[in-house]
Amino acid sequence: MSSRAPLVVANWKMNKTAREAAAFAEEFLALRPSLPDSVGVAIAPAFPALERLGRLLTHTQILLAAQDVHTETKGANTGEVSAPMLKDLGVAMALVGHSERRRDRKEDEAAFTRKIERLVENAISPLYCVGETLEERDGGKTDDVLARQMTALDPFGSLPAGLVIAYEPVWAIGTGRAASPAMAVEAHRQIRSLLAKRYGEGVAATVRILYGGSVTPANAATLFGEEEIDGGLVGGASLVPADFAALVKAAG
Ligand code: PGA
Repeated sequence: MSSRAPLVVANWKMNKTAREAAAFAEEFLALRPSLPDSVGVAIAPAFPALERLGRLLTHTQILLAAQDVHTETKGANTGEVSAPMLKDLGVAMALVGHSERRRDRKEDEAAFTRKIERLVENAISPLYCVGETLEERDGGKTDDVLARQMTALDPFGSLPAGLVIAYEPVWAIGTGRAASPAMAVEAHRQIRSLLAKRYGEGVAATVRILYGGSVTPANAATLFGEEEIDGGLVGGASLVPADFAALVKAAG
């Protein structure tokens, strides 16, 4: 048995207005008493819903998460949101390096390092996302890609506080084609060994590594049943309260 507490994170992406987020919270909180306390839960709405959702989640154990953060603390960066702004809203965790941002915004490891630094400075846990494309997997490059993506952690002499990793193979995201548990476990082991090289085995063993990519109530128990899989980062299936609750149950 792993001593790491499981964690299930909802990534709502560009879905749900503040009003819709509030409706979700009301339904989900009603289901919460039937869910295992041992499973950590975080919800990452779009920025405009953070404040309203945050108010509804106060005094629950559910963490408020953000989908991104800027590399700088403040300044002339039109349209961007900084770590202190997130902190002020009660955000406890933020995604960094999601594949949709790697692809659409061409963000790279140097930027991810700076984002993680800003989060740590503001006592927000970074949820750093890594994962290969189908082309990279088919070309036998998965190991190289994960190693390159993990270089975002190179500048940190010690483990960034609160760091969580999400392994999300790009070909599994939103496709209905999740990685097999064996595939995910292999990638998680590689990620953990990369952490061990930097911070030592003991520290690496404490870091939660989530799986993401077409997690559903149907496949969650099999994936989360693996000792190496510490929970999930979930898009589509996190949008419906009953489905998200089923995922939390599966991680317990
Ligand atoms: P999905 O998305 O669960 O809809 O595949 C996961 C993610 O992108 O975090």
